[in-house]
Amino acid sequence: MASSAAGGVVIIGSGLIGRSWAMLFASGGFKVKLYDIEQEQITNALENIRKELKRLEQSDSLKGSLSAEQQLSLISGCSNITEAVEGAMHIQECVPENLDLKKKIFAQLDRIVDDRVILSSSSSCLMPSKLFAGLVHVKQCIVAHPVNPPYYVPLVELIPHPETAPATMDRTHALMRKIGQSPVRVLKEIDGFVLNRLQYAIISEAWRLVEDGVVSPCDLDLVMSDGLGMRYAFIGPLETMHLNAEGMLSYCDRYSEGMKRVLKTFGPVPEFSGATVEKVHQAMLTKVPDDPEHLAARRQWRDDCLKKLAKLKSQLQPE
Ligand code: NAI
Repeated sequence: MASSAAGGVVIIGSGLIGRSWAMLFASGGFKVKLYDIEQEQITNALENIRKELKRLEQSDSLKGSLSAEQQLSLISGCSNITEAVEGAMHIQECVPENLDLKKKIFAQLDRIVDDRVILSSSSSCLMPSKLFAGLVHVKQCIVAHPVNPPYYVPLVELIPHPETAPATMDRTHALMRKIGQSPVRVLKEIDGFVLNRLQYAIISEAWRLVEDGVVSPCDLDLVMSDGLGMRYAFIGPLETMHLNAEGMLSYCDRYSEGMKRVLKTFGPVPEFSGATVEKVHQAMLTKVPDDPEHLAARRQWRDDCLKKLAKLKSQLQPE
């Protein structure tokens, strides 16, 4: 039986997201056990984490107050799931986004855990009511959806099953804060959660504007990266409304008619196929060729930018 007494964290699945969670929990001083069905994945993950933590330390970007070596000493691999969960207070599942696979893992965990450990899934879009259906320990289950790359983008969406205990939400929220993440409470489950619903709304209108010949694909991206995105890194759309007039009431008074007029002109859900895909594809290729080297280099650049932005944001906390 796993017990929360020792306070360790278990990561189930040592891929991209499992490794990031391991680093974040270790940065908060938690003991982490990395489990995977593939022994090689665990070995690779430990090696990759070692290199990453050293690199972060050298560039003065390591999270938490412990050295890279101290954080590394908190992370170990384990290829037996029952041994892995022994003594855990939080289990973070990070296996591929496949409902049957995740259900199988949670059913397995349900049989071997006690009633204190939190069972948390990293799922990007599977509904808690489907993931945790029929589990004895459903009150302890929650989705904690990170954003890639989680080490630099702190948001975590917490989504409860209808039967999740309020204490499970509170404990997970507190744990995320403790490791420096920025948790939000999604009060009830909805397809796409919150982040992806907002993202898809933007993608959808971006696509229609390009499809209708209003703007080129590269200029569309500039509207976000050099326009809306600049402020959205610091304040959200609702606070933007509040600040762009004399408060929210004044904004709605002044702009609601205009917003409604424009919103009524939005088109149907795009097909994301045909001539528009080819047009967007060709435009993206002029920016970033889609071979593995160019894509990896651009991702590395993006992550470096996010790292610097994260630092800037931590220095610019409001008074
Ligand atoms: P990944 O493919 O990099 O890693 C999955 C790992 O799970 C692999 O190491 C694999 O060996 C292991 N695995 C497979 N079956 C297993 C089993 N039965 N028991 C234990 N381990 C098993 O996947 P990634 O990208 O890390 O995604 C994991 C989860 O995180 C998914 O649910 C995904 O939707 C979610 N997520 C992913 C994001 C991303 O950008 N990659 C962002 C936010 C959430």
